[in-house]
Amino acid sequence: MPIRPARRITNTSPKNFGMFAKAVGMQGDLIHLELGMPVEDTPQHIKDATIAALQSGAVHYSDLQGLPELRGAIADKLQRQNQINVCADEVIVTNGLTQASFAAFMAFLDTGDECLLLAPYYPQHIGKAELAGAKVTVAPLDAANGFSIHRALIEPHITPATRAIALINPCNPTGRVYTRAELDIIADLAQKHDLLVLSDEVYEEITYDGARHISIASLPGMKARTITMCAFTKAYAMDGWRLGYLAADAALIGPLMKMHTSEVTHVNTFIQHGALAALTGDPEVLKSMVDRDRARRDLVVTRLNQMPGVTCAPVEGTIYAFPDIAATGLSAQECAEKLMADTGVVVEAGSFYGKAGEGHLRVCFGCAELDVLEDAMARMQRFFNALC
Ligand SMILES: Cc1ncc(COP(=O)(O)O)c(C=O)c1O
Repeated sequence: MPIRPARRITNTSPKNFGMFAKAVGMQGDLIHLELGMPVEDTPQHIKDATIAALQSGAVHYSDLQGLPELRGAIADKLQRQNQINVCADEVIVTNGLTQASFAAFMAFLDTGDECLLLAPYYPQHIGKAELAGAKVTVAPLDAANGFSIHRALIEPHITPATRAIALINPCNPTGRVYTRAELDIIADLAQKHDLLVLSDEVYEEITYDGARHISIASLPGMKARTITMCAFTKAYAMDGWRLGYLAADAALIGPLMKMHTSEVTHVNTFIQHGALAALTGDPEVLKSMVDRDRARRDLVVTRLNQMPGVTCAPVEGTIYAFPDIAATGLSAQECAEKLMADTGVVVEAGSFYGKAGEGHLRVCFGCAELDVLEDAMARMQRFFNALC
């Protein structure tokens, strides 16, 4: 008899790796713009601090919640930069944002609960809510008004079973950085309907042209009902390190720690010294990395808008452009597959992020150097010239 997996596994939607999985078997000269993997290297001072910690014996079990000095630096940063009034005991250091959000979904969602996602959504959130036994419901935002947050698009999807709402700000895949007025709507809905907000802020540092990232937990009354999740992953090019953190009101930390310690005990001791160096190091390092992302964004958005059948909205934050290709008459999936087959440029179909993303492609500009992006844009220009 084959060993039967747990029902929580078989009841969960199959994991879909989108165009990345389709590109795996492809031969030829591919340009990968489908994954959010930063092209930058981790800054040297972060590596040096980690190596020094490793050499000096930081190789043993340590504080389960995260090194106290690191949690202190995170709390300082959250108070100063995010305007969230947290102390070090309200922070948990995690293995990337992925583990922070898994702990959050598992600690606060039950069988029968509903978890509301704004679409386009981040598909990983679906699997986590489902593993927790919850039902995922979706509030589609509207491409026609720039995927902005409107009460009328969200409130009808809130039912008595809705327990949590997941927010991604700055938003992957749309590149939106939500305004205070938009966040006020979510805060108001959360308080009116007694919802927890799971706030994924993995792109918080990567904003452009004066777009200001606001953490929803900083809004009046929201700290008590928000789990703020951040990571070193994107801004510091530390995706392989698996290093992030969450912050929540003291009353929520106990359940989160129960999940966290069951999953990982704690995050690797020596890499936490690298995180400390990231937070306490020269801020110019981070600024120059974001400046280089801005140059990549400018190239890609400008070039996309020169292609027939393609319209690309300004990108306010993140490392993704989300051009509208509906005028080509192809579905997003058809367009992404044909683009890959004809040109070798791999991008993600907008429909991967839910029906609300149909008619769009997600083009990651943070994962390639400018000369590679130039090549990709030239190939895409020829593709859309031939198509339209
Ligand atoms: C919205 C969002 N959340 C979470 C993650 C995963 O972050 P981490 O690698 O820190 O687990 C990503 C990565 O692309 C993301 O786009």
